[in-house]
Amino acid sequence: MPEHKLALCRGCYPGWFVDHTDRAIRKFNMFTRNDRILVAVSGGKDSLALWHALRTLGYEADGFYIDLGIVGEDGYSSKSKQACIALSEALGRPLRVQSVSEAVGAPIPQIKDLTARSSCSACGLVKRYFMNRTSLELGYDVIATGHNLDDEVAVLFSNTLRWETGYLARQYPVLEDREGLKRKVKPFIYFTEKQTTIYTLINSLPYVRDECPYAVGATTLEYKDVINRLEHETPGTKRRFLDGFLKARHLFVDAEDVVLAPCTICAQPTVGEVCAYCRLINQVQTRLVTISADAHGASHQGQKAFTVLRDSDLRVDSA
Ligand code: AMP
Ligand code: FES
Ligand code: ZN
Repeated sequence: MPEHKLALCRGCYPGWFVDHTDRAIRKFNMFTRNDRILVAVSGGKDSLALWHALRTLGYEADGFYIDLGIVGEDGYSSKSKQACIALSEALGRPLRVQSVSEAVGAPIPQIKDLTARSSCSACGLVKRYFMNRTSLELGYDVIATGHNLDDEVAVLFSNTLRWETGYLARQYPVLEDREGLKRKVKPFIYFTEKQTTIYTLINSLPYVRDECPYAVGATTLEYKDVINRLEHETPGTKRRFLDGFLKARHLFVDAEDVVLAPCTICAQPTVGEVCAYCRLINQVQTRLVTISADAHGASHQGQKAFTVLRDSDLRVDSA
């Protein structure tokens, strides 16, 4: 690891990794051993490594998988779910599962077709919503996600390029509880993707290698590529960029402070009267009803056409 000027063997690496996870947790006061943690697991390397590392450290951590219903070429969502189930069994801890199709009435790819939202925007919205609602309903104290240094730096780079001061104000490894929003933490903020992959491989964790089919061509991946080239030229660039920002972040705080109130339909916190999730469900279900009414009309017409044909056939026969 040139950025740390450190070389570790296979035997020492997991200990170093778990110790540095705990250091980040303590540095940012993410949670304590008295807290119940809901680890949002996607089936990818980062979040499964996080669940494993937290259990190794003795934290009370359970898994939460959101089944997005993405099929892709190879059954992306069901493969991811299987990976989470396998780790849940290995760790002997429960995995909570929430199906988007069951809750919303359609999986992510269909939501994209039925609404004006892109897959990633619908996906981000439902993930944020279910993480918060489930942790509240099941009495967890904190939600932990597997975002790593590469993810954070790519988002920081993107927000800085656009000078998104509101987003910059909210980019932090700990987002505290507020008005119905559970605390959210990112204990892997200082690990690169490569470091979490090594931990996953050494521990033979059952992760899914495929990227989400909708991530192909995403700008975040382009940014990661650029940043990796900078890191290659000057090791430590990613970490310095993030640390520098975290020191200067107070300059952006309160740039856009919004007041939250319970959604009038589901009671989850929102800035308007009805939250974006309830509006999304409404849109999806209205479209599904319209489509089913149209299909019903069409099949009625088909039935009529068939009857008319038979009538004329009969007429021909009888002629
Ligand atoms: P992503 O937004 O895909 O880069 O994922 C960032 C983090 O969100 C992951 O490390 C997980 O902690 C969480 N996450 C992503 N997808 C899911 C999912 N389908 N179910 C539960 N958590 C997820
Ligand atoms: Fe959300 Fe791909 S994981 S659209
Ligand atoms: Zn709502």
